[in-house]
Amino acid sequence: MGGQDGWTAVDALIGSTLLADDPALQACLTNSAEHGLPDIAVSAPQGRFLALIAKISGARRVLEVGTLGGYSTIHLARGVGAGGDITTLELDPAFAEVARANIAGAGLESRVDVVTGPALDTLTTLDGPYDLAFIDADKVNNAHYVDHAIRLGRTGMLIIVDNVVRDGAVLDPHDQSARASRQLYDYVARHPRLQGTALQTVGDKGWDGMMLLEVTD
Ligand code: SAH
Ligand code: DHB
Ligand code: MG
Repeated sequence: MGGQDGWTAVDALIGSTLLADDPALQACLTNSAEHGLPDIAVSAPQGRFLALIAKISGARRVLEVGTLGGYSTIHLARGVGAGGDITTLELDPAFAEVARANIAGAGLESRVDVVTGPALDTLTTLDGPYDLAFIDADKVNNAHYVDHAIRLGRTGMLIIVDNVVRDGAVLDPHDQSARASRQLYDYVARHPRLQGTALQTVGDKGWDGMMLLEVTD
C-alpha cells in the first residue's frame, strides 16, 4: 500500500474522519475549477494544519504570498479568528477575483485583503508587523519573499514556505524552480535570523513538503 494510491487513500481517511464536511471549502474548490484555476491549492489536511498553526501561535496578522482561489487563505483566516486579518498577494487579477468571491462565500471577507500584482511590487506597499507568513507563489522568488516577510515581521514571526520538496526535484540541478527551492535551503542556513526545519509530506497532492522558520533576533 505504498505510493500515490496509498497516499491518496490515507488522505481520504483523514478527510472523512478528522475533517468535517466543509461546504465553504468545497465551494471554493468547485468554483475555482469552474473558473479554470489550476488544482494546486494545499490539500485539505495541509489547510487544516495551516489553520492550527495560525491559531496555536496566536497569530493575528498573516501575510500570504500566492492566493490562487483563496483556499489556503480561508484556512488561515479561520485560524486567526475574528480579531485577525490576512493580507494575501496574487499576481493574476482573474484569480484574485475568484478568490474574493470564494472568501466572501466563506463569510470571511472582513478579515481578508486580496492585493493584485506581482508580489515583489505589492510587498513594498505593505505595513507590518505580521505574525505569520505563508509563502506559496513563484518558487524562484522564495528567498526574496522570505526577506520581505522578515522586513514586515517581528522577532518570533513564523514563516512557512510551501513546495520545498517537489517529488524530490529539490535535488535535481536541471529543474529551474526546484533549483530555486534548493537555494532557499542554503539561504536559510546562512541567514543569521532564521532557524527552523522542513517536513516532507505525502498525500493526495503527491510528495512534497513545507519549510517552517522562526525569525529570531
Ligand atoms: N496558496 C494557494 C495556492 C497558491 S498557487 C492555496 O494553497 O490555496 C500559486 C499562486 O501564486 C498562483 O495563483 C499564481 O498566480 C501566484 N503567483 C505566481 N507568481 C506570482 C507573483 N510574482 N506574485 C504574486 N503571485 C504570484
Ligand atoms: C505548483 C504550485 C504550488 O504552490 C503547489 O502547491 C503545487 C504545484 C505548481 O506550480 O505546479
Ligand atoms: Mg503550494
